[in-house]
Amino acid sequence: MKKFNVFVTRKIPEVGLDLLGKVCKLEIYPHNRSLTKKELLKLVHGRDGLITLLSDKIDSSVINGAGPQLKVISNYAAGFENIDVAEATKRKILVTNTPGILSKTTAELAWALLLAVARRIPQGDVFTRDGKFKGWDPLLFLGQDIYGKTLGIIGAGKIGTEFALLSKGYKMDVLYSSRHRNLTLEKELFAQKVTLDQLLRHSDVISLHVPLTKETFHLIGRKEFAKMKRSAIFINSSRGAVVEETALVEALKKNKIFGAGLDVYEKEPQLAPGLKNLSNVVLAPHTGSASQATREKMAILAAQNLRAGLRGERPQHLVNKGLIV
Ligand code: DGY
Repeated sequence: MKKFNVFVTRKIPEVGLDLLGKVCKLEIYPHNRSLTKKELLKLVHGRDGLITLLSDKIDSSVINGAGPQLKVISNYAAGFENIDVAEATKRKILVTNTPGILSKTTAELAWALLLAVARRIPQGDVFTRDGKFKGWDPLLFLGQDIYGKTLGIIGAGKIGTEFALLSKGYKMDVLYSSRHRNLTLEKELFAQKVTLDQLLRHSDVISLHVPLTKETFHLIGRKEFAKMKRSAIFINSSRGAVVEETALVEALKKNKIFGAGLDVYEKEPQLAPGLKNLSNVVLAPHTGSASQATREKMAILAAQNLRAGLRGERPQHLVNKGLIV
């Protein structure tokens, strides 16, 4: 039987690749960097299926350049704003993603950022390593308490919900802004659904959990930072472009908020000018889902989605849900 021809744009955990090995002829991009557009166009050509990353821009030229045999694009991520889903749908190509399994891991990273910002952990670490710690000091690295404070969740989907639930031990008052009511948060945490304006004005911690869409692009900009408390901590583990990064840099520079923890950037992997020089921001290299176990589960799910689609079955996590399979 002819094996399906599959291209994987970067090495992912072996467990996923093993699942595909039996039914597919696999080619994996061998370099540890993103493909250039030219490479992408060349390497997708003639493939039945693709496993792609959120850093691969799968636009109409890539989709059409692959050829009429392309059946499935399996994104190794929960987000899929890197793929032109409308174009894929037009061509009846299945687009799949890996939601759910990474929610807890991403929520944990967002909490790690929050605690690091609140208690200035990275600055203290550098200070201690540099031999500057000369003994207990009543005024050394004073930060913010989290316990009993007000937590504002923007976007109460899977990851936002997990992030909020982790606040239980900190006995926080939870506010959320979302298109839909979240009964889990209301029942478990007595969370209140509020407007974005109310959330920004009343929260001590603001954590962003919306996907990047036309509606959420630059959702948080100069006006929104101006509404936040001066003591507020802002966390973004969703997508960089939901925040107008120059406005964030300005808010941090002028101490309009206490600090920020970021896992994602507007022009990833580039940082906004001035961001890396600020001491009130903690920066992570988009490692929200980066635990060994979760990345393996993502690899298995991406492979299962791809395999199902290639066999003409409906994949578990189909993004273009309207397609009849
Ligand atoms: C996703 O899956 O969208 C995450 O950002 C990956 O860490």
